[in-house]
Amino acid sequence: MVNDISCRNFEKVNEILEKYDYKPSNLISIFQEVQEIYRYLPEEILVYISTAMRIAPSRIFGVATFYESFSLEPKGKNLIKVCDGTACHVRNSDKILSTTKEILNLKGDAKTTDDMLFTLETVSCLGACGLAPVIVINDKVYGNMTPEKVRQLINDIKEVSCNDQDS
Ligand code: FES
Repeated sequence: MVNDISCRNFEKVNEILEKYDYKPSNLISIFQEVQEIYRYLPEEILVYISTAMRIAPSRIFGVATFYESFSLEPKGKNLIKVCDGTACHVRNSDKILSTTKEILNLKGDAKTTDDMLFTLETVSCLGACGLAPVIVINDKVYGNMTPEKVRQLINDIKEVSCNDQDS
C-alpha cells in the first residue's frame, strides 16, 4: 500500500489531473483513480488537488464525503462486505458479521485490521438476495454463507498473502 506522500506520488496525481484536464466536472473520476492508488483519499492528496485545480477545499472535501464509495480512512488490502439487508438478516447475517469480526480480531467500531490486510464493512443489500446470506470479498460475491465458509475464505486469503510475502 502507498503510505508515504512522496514527490513520486504527487507525480502520479498530476498525471491523473492532466488526464482529466483539471476540469472540476471530472472530479469524481479523478477521485476514483486516486482511490484506486491509495484505496482511500488521503487528506494531503485532497488538499493538493484543491490547490492544483483551484477549487475550494470545502468543495473538495464536500464531494469526497458525500459519496459513500469514497473513503477518507485508510482501508485494508482486502475489502469484505457483509450484507445486512432484510433477506440476509433473516438468514442470520448477524452471525456471519460477528464471526468475521471475531476472526479478524476487530474490536468495537474498528473496521480495519492492524496489519492493514482486511477492512470489514456492512451493506444494506448486495442485490443477490436469493443467495442470502451473502458477503462480497474484493468484488467477488459469495452466497449461502456460514461461519465456517467465512473462516475458510479468510484463511485462504491470509495464506496467499503469507506466500506473497515469502516470495
Ligand atoms: S439482502 Fe443481502 S443480498 Fe439482498
